[in-house]
Amino acid sequence: MTKIIDGKEVAAVMRAEIAAEVAQMVAEGKRAPYLVAVLVGNDGASEAYVGNKEKMCGEVGFGSQVRRFPDTITEQELLDEIARLNADEAVDGFIVQLPLPKHISEDRVIEAIDPRKDVDGFHPENTGRMIGGLPAYIPATPDGILSLLKYYDIETSGKHCVVIGRSNIVGRPIANLLSQKGWDCTVTICHSRTHDLAGVVRTGDIVIAALGKPEFVTADMVKEGAVVIDVGITRVPSAETKSGWRLAGDVKFGEVAPRCSYITPVPGGVGPMTIISLMRNTLRAAKREVYK
Ligand code: GUN
Repeated sequence: MTKIIDGKEVAAVMRAEIAAEVAQMVAEGKRAPYLVAVLVGNDGASEAYVGNKEKMCGEVGFGSQVRRFPDTITEQELLDEIARLNADEAVDGFIVQLPLPKHISEDRVIEAIDPRKDVDGFHPENTGRMIGGLPAYIPATPDGILSLLKYYDIETSGKHCVVIGRSNIVGRPIANLLSQKGWDCTVTICHSRTHDLAGVVRTGDIVIAALGKPEFVTADMVKEGAVVIDVGITRVPSAETKSGWRLAGDVKFGEVAPRCSYITPVPGGVGPMTIISLMRNTLRAAKREVYK
């Protein structure tokens, strides 16, 4: 029997845990965690993401602020803003919403963030610490996937995990984390140049689809009884919705689900977890848990 992993339920449980911890901190006279989101330009998707993050901060009792800048901001002006946030003791953590306009180097911006406040976990220092198994801020999507595996008590030790996609924010970190002690997977990363990708994916006990191609993973690519985690979330045209589009994952859910022991739906699987992971990282920042 296939179990559908309910990311909304897990996110609600973890949200309540974070809110309780914040209430306790405040009751002890400590300041509530404070998160700032820097938003450049007016990309619709970025506006929505940042709006959701701000709303969630309110729900768990964090202080938060969105700092908006026009897309005409220069790279130096943005770097100056980051320097101010790095120095501001009232700010526990901050994120710079990506993508940034083309005239600004995302790499330079990320490297300018104080790693102690890098709650997105994108700074190379946090990447290095994560790979070395040191305390680190782990990017939201891989962290959310780990929380789902833990919540559903899914066995990972000795399992073959096939990750499809090698992005810096999902594929590479989740592959690395699942190979570490405690998770103990044997991991394969597949990408656009992989020979016989379907054949490799078929050997996966756990399949993590993070390539950003709607409905790429089909039933013939998945072993009977596999755990399938779908990270994709793409708008595709639809004749059945008023808006004219629907959200599709990287997995053809209807035909793949019956073969799986566990599968995440889209929406309602990995998505709701990512924002919770950002809240958790911000709480850890406020408690100086990662960097003492
Ligand atoms: N753009 C899409 N996802 C993210 C994210 O997790 N963090 C930031 N900063 N930008 C994003």
